[in-house]
Amino acid sequence: SAAQTDPGIAIHPWMQELGDGVDVAPYGMPSPHEADVKRRTVEWLTADPVSSINFTPLHDLDGTITPNGLCFERHHSGVAEVDPAKHRLMINGLVDKPLVLTMDDLHRFPRENHVYFLECAANSGMEWRGSQLNGCQFTHGMIHNVQYTGVPLRLVLEEAGVKPEGKWLLAEGADAAAMSRSIPMEKALDDCLVAFKMNGEALRPEQGYPVRLVVPGWEGNMWVKWLRRLEAGDQPWHHREETSKYTDLMADGVARRFTWEMDAKSVITSPSPQAPITHGPGPTVLTGLAWSGRGTIPRVDVTLDGGITWHQARMDGPSTPKALHRFYFDFEWDGKPLLLQSRAHDSTGYVQPTKDTLRAVRGENSIYHNNGIQTWAVDADGKAENVEIS
Ligand code: MTE
Ligand code: CO
Repeated sequence: SAAQTDPGIAIHPWMQELGDGVDVAPYGMPSPHEADVKRRTVEWLTADPVSSINFTPLHDLDGTITPNGLCFERHHSGVAEVDPAKHRLMINGLVDKPLVLTMDDLHRFPRENHVYFLECAANSGMEWRGSQLNGCQFTHGMIHNVQYTGVPLRLVLEEAGVKPEGKWLLAEGADAAAMSRSIPMEKALDDCLVAFKMNGEALRPEQGYPVRLVVPGWEGNMWVKWLRRLEAGDQPWHHREETSKYTDLMADGVARRFTWEMDAKSVITSPSPQAPITHGPGPTVLTGLAWSGRGTIPRVDVTLDGGITWHQARMDGPSTPKALHRFYFDFEWDGKPLLLQSRAHDSTGYVQPTKDTLRAVRGENSIYHNNGIQTWAVDADGKAENVEIS
């Protein structure tokens, strides 16, 4: 029988020798067989790695939580090497009592834990004018989903006492870019966090160690890393990141500004160009991720034939607002070519649009906020490719 001739049932070295003892790796690392599971860059995208981006390997992951070492990175001036003992968070501007907080001070505010996705507004930005990058890591990998431990921003602002004219908040980073964004006070007092832990451990340097802002559901650029200052003001600051960047140039040349919320979106992570079908016809697991900056994802539809027939995917838990949702569609593959798409519905009733619908409204000048439906063409060998159909 196959079982008796399978070389895998041999006596292997690891069955005959004792393994490593505890403490060989005091901080554990993945199996060397998983060395291919890593963040990757797109070489031509930026001129220099100091102001650049890499991508989360979505095709290699399952569940919803992104492991810390695989969270994509986006830095405007490299990773700031911050000494937490010397780091301070200043709260100034239109407040009754300006504050300068140490990390120890921050740890004495009541804290909470929440899972949220962070999506760069530029995610899928290279796909506006047609399909370009072969892999969901590159088309959709400017996203991660992490459990944050942090202090509600509201509590810090209440401690400083924001004056009634304080309608906006400037968040500023301690990196060489001093990256800054204006945030409406209403959002700051709603669900933002001043976070210092991710998935239970200290923030990674790449993610803003020792403290970053969490702005649930809103574009990643506002989640200021290495957070050093919060200033209350009566109007937005019109910084670079909200004028020349992170605005959406429409077909008529007018730019939409302050488009903070991330619209509902989804992507099939397997099969996909970096995760082809290798097993031939028969039982096949299709899986993907869906998310919305406005709530939860009660439903995802999946098509195998480019939108002629749609099936409801199986949603897998947990389902929490402004976090990634995992879906599955288990089917019998007949070995014929497939045109795979997924379409997210969010809890507000919004349905993810096709790329053509999106372009009809937004034109093709945009970089940001591309949440159009993604298509993978799978051939009879199971190989997948990024395509567009209309
Ligand atoms: N904060 C600072 N201080 N400096 C930065 O360059 N990049 C922003 C945001 N916060 C940035 C920053 C952008 S554009 C994004 S998409 C997210 O951080 C990326 O977060 P990540 O590196 O944890 O993925
Ligand atoms: Co970004």
